[in-house]
Amino acid sequence: MANKIHKVAIVFFSAQENTRIIAEWFRDIFQEKGIDARTRDLTGLTRKGISELEIDFLERADLFLIGSPVYSWHIVPPVEWFVSRLPRVHNRPVVPFVTYGGVNSGEALSELSRSLKKRGYLIAGAGKFLGKHSLMFRGERPLGQNHPDAGEKTLVRKLVEKVVSISFEEEGFADSIAWQALENKRALVRMLSRRVNMKSLGLVMPKISIHPKKCSKCQKCLEACPVRIISIDPQVRIMPGCIYCYNCVRLCPEEVFSASMFGLEMAIRGMAIMNRERPRSQIW
Ligand SMILES: Cc1cc2nc3c(=O)[nH]c(=O)nc-3n(C[C@H](O)[C@H](O)[C@H](O)COP(=O)(O)O)c2cc1C
Ligand code: SF4
Ligand code: SF4
Repeated sequence: MANKIHKVAIVFFSAQENTRIIAEWFRDIFQEKGIDARTRDLTGLTRKGISELEIDFLERADLFLIGSPVYSWHIVPPVEWFVSRLPRVHNRPVVPFVTYGGVNSGEALSELSRSLKKRGYLIAGAGKFLGKHSLMFRGERPLGQNHPDAGEKTLVRKLVEKVVSISFEEEGFADSIAWQALENKRALVRMLSRRVNMKSLGLVMPKISIHPKKCSKCQKCLEACPVRIISIDPQVRIMPGCIYCYNCVRLCPEEVFSASMFGLEMAIRGMAIMNRERPRSQIW
């Protein structure tokens, strides 16, 4: 079967590291096969930065992969912004993937797949991968602890094997993945997903308090904020557009940012019991 993949572009956003790890495994495994695979990181770009990003690399790629963490059952805003600016194409292959923290991956993968299909892409494969829950950085035994692990890496490898064996010449190749299988079957998850978005999330997430006097102007938070909305000049402040990753709380060495994560952790554990997703990691 003719395999026409010579160049692969892997676009991802990763506030902590799970999605980056998966994206880099994809890159390395494609490269082992002699395929020119490169990653494009959206982390650390503002919305304007994403809208101005040169994307001609996508035109040169035979295959495009795009990865997002799951935030409240959805893909994250930077991935949404990136997808919304993609030009329409005709039947180009794409592989969407998500990482999630062991509660539920919700609608994220189907929503990402649908947006790509609307732009003329064909879904050549897809994956959801378990990772350490990035909101559980304070307590012990976070959900998804030690993931992604060798099991997830094996799935990444299998997905690469599958995709490289597809002949993209054949009309309708994407039908083979029965992508409707990506739809989340649980009614409760579907109902909650539809009600929750970044705006409503702001109402329930722990408030971040700022203690500007403690600031040593080390600038670590400027780098740590994946959507670059922190300013320290003249005083520390968070501008609109927070995605609630809590990297600032986690990484500021002077504890200028503080938030009480305990209640949220308990709620996350409760949701994980109610909405347990099986299999935890899966490829299509
Ligand atoms: C604001 C926020 C919301 C999240 N929502 C979910 C969720 O709905 N379901 C889930 O299983 N994990 C959820 N997580 C955990 C992340 O999906 C998971 O840890 C992901 O792998 C993080 O990716 P990253 O390390 O690339 O940033 C959430 C994390 C954050 C910060
Ligand atoms: S990381 Fe903390 S101490 Fe460093 S500049 Fe930011 S707020 Fe100030
Ligand atoms: S301000 Fe803090 S919580 Fe909000 S996006 Fe930036 S690093 Fe994440």
